[in-house]
Amino acid sequence: MMKNFLKTSDHSVSVLNGLVDSAVTFKSARASARPLAGKSVALVFFNPSLRTRASMQVGIYELGGNPVILEPGSTSWSLEHREGVVMDGDKTEHLKEFVRVLERYVSAIGVRTFAELKDWQVERTDPILTAFADYAAVPVINLESAMHHPCQAMADMMTIREKLGTERKTVLLTWAWHPKPLPMAVPNSFALAAAQFGHDVRIAHPKGYDLDSDLLAEIKSQASTSGGTVEFTNSASEAFDGVDVVYAKSWGGSRFYGGTEADIAHRAQFRNKWIVDDAKMAQTNEAIFMHCLPVRRNVIVTDGVIDSPQSVVVDEAENRLHIQKAIMSELIK
Ligand code: CP
Repeated sequence: MMKNFLKTSDHSVSVLNGLVDSAVTFKSARASARPLAGKSVALVFFNPSLRTRASMQVGIYELGGNPVILEPGSTSWSLEHREGVVMDGDKTEHLKEFVRVLERYVSAIGVRTFAELKDWQVERTDPILTAFADYAAVPVINLESAMHHPCQAMADMMTIREKLGTERKTVLLTWAWHPKPLPMAVPNSFALAAAQFGHDVRIAHPKGYDLDSDLLAEIKSQASTSGGTVEFTNSASEAFDGVDVVYAKSWGGSRFYGGTEADIAHRAQFRNKWIVDDAKMAQTNEAIFMHCLPVRRNVIVTDGVIDSPQSVVVDEAENRLHIQKAIMSELIK
């Protein structure tokens, strides 16, 4: 039985495939069970959201439950998560009391807490999400942390299966130029889940934008277990050759953490080179185009690609609802 849903690699591929099966049933409207009847689920948002917030809120409602949305530092008290600190600064409440009080009211806690892109060695440990999981007796669901976005990755795996079937595919994760550095949670979780599901994963990015070394080791290990492969390229054009799936996402380089201006200056050379356009899509095996959204049009991807029949970004976003219903039904008993 699952205790938390923090990253896909905490769970076996058979469990993950079972969640996709369940999500497909929810999507086909064949599931009428209301496992959350009489229960409440807290959704704690340290950062903005459209898809995650709306799909979790609707999903909890459709499962018969009641969502309780909290925004620390805005509509609820600001939170300190570090152990042993003297709280004489701007934080009003400690996460220990926040969690221990909240779980007297709710059956699970979902948490969104982005990387601040300040201190790589700290953020790669996912400190806020980890504190929630440590203090909570009820299940914790990661709604995007510094390192992982597992609900997004599961919706992505469901979308690949829905569009291309269950066979092993060649899946490209490509970095894209963006005016400012962004967190790595989405690319981390997509590559990890694709490796777990046995796809051949190609990761493309300019030099200096490698994913975390420990995470890459985990991705390679998962691929070796599942029968898939992992390869890397620094070529923006060759990356697209023959792939079945193009997954675009921008992220910041870990070596630039705490130095946003240096990252912005370094990445300037990649503008208009690392963009998904018709020419690159023409090199693929009639690939589907995926992005977690929100996306900057004509920066990450051209209008021509995102508006083409190959683009599945809206179906991908819809699948967040179905997979999260599957996850919550499994977690909250
Ligand atoms: N993809 C995703 O998590 O979207 P939101 O940031 O809008 O929730």
